[in-house]
Amino acid sequence: MEETKKSLLDDSFTSAMTLTNSGVPQVPDRYVLPSAQRPALGSSIGTRDDTTLPVIDLSLLHQPLLRSRAIHEINMACKEFGFFQVINHGIPSSVVKDALDAATQFFDLPVEEKMLLVSSNVHQPVRYGTSINHSTDKVHYWRDFIKHYSHPLSKDKVGKYAEATHLLNKQLLEAISESLGLEKNYLQEQNEEGSQVIAVNCYPSCPEPEVTLGMPPHSDFGSLTILLQSSEGLQIMDSNKNWVCVPYIEGALIVQLGDQVEVMSNGIYKSVIHRVTVNKHVKMLSFASLHSLPRR
Ligand code: OGA
Ligand code: NI
Repeated sequence: MEETKKSLLDDSFTSAMTLTNSGVPQVPDRYVLPSAQRPALGSSIGTRDDTTLPVIDLSLLHQPLLRSRAIHEINMACKEFGFFQVINHGIPSSVVKDALDAATQFFDLPVEEKMLLVSSNVHQPVRYGTSINHSTDKVHYWRDFIKHYSHPLSKDKVGKYAEATHLLNKQLLEAISESLGLEKNYLQEQNEEGSQVIAVNCYPSCPEPEVTLGMPPHSDFGSLTILLQSSEGLQIMDSNKNWVCVPYIEGALIVQLGDQVEVMSNGIYKSVIHRVTVNKHVKMLSFASLHSLPRR
């Protein structure tokens, strides 16, 4: 009995990366979702490809005559989707590339080294793991991650990216406040006392992407999430409860409203429900910069 228990536990520690590298022809049973929750890849049932998702040029925010146009676009996107992509966001492509390179290097480390950072203590400042919570998940997700509390910031490559998203988040909160008819700095103080966690995710190529997901449907609990993905995989739920694939736009970042903005806007803005699909041939990396206001 002890033996079985132990091997089960060890089994649930196996990262998605290890499974991919070992060349498993199928996903282990613990990754198989009930059929109603599977992503229906390649079929049009429940998914839409004809919805145009908003892409906003943030350079307009810095041009006095054009700022109100960007604010209007943000207003529309937040009301309809709680989601938009941003271009000309001011984060240099070299900072983005360095962060993605650092993530690639980390997930390529030998298993033993990554295991040194495994912890189920969510307050651990740097924590490696797999799925969502490998010790309690009933169904597992095809995802490995490392989470960083980004205060205090380390000056490494990911630190630079964290700093850049910290500033971008501030600018976005200003624009979102204005778009609600509030003072530009309405959320400034709260934001300064809030927190930022960077979740670096790795979704290795998966032998059976149609039966599993990289991350289950959820909304983010905080104020805003700024998301960088290395390729397509994110889907968001639209107001008709259809899943919409988010197109990959080189150099763009994804902005998602979290529950705190839904609440503070009295529900005028929606926190977006989203999930991550995985891919048969491509490994996807992502950086989710999760910003939140302090709890009251
Ligand atoms: C998250 C999230 C999406 C992704 O961390 O909350 O939704 O692409 N991430 O990793
Ligand atoms: Ni999320």
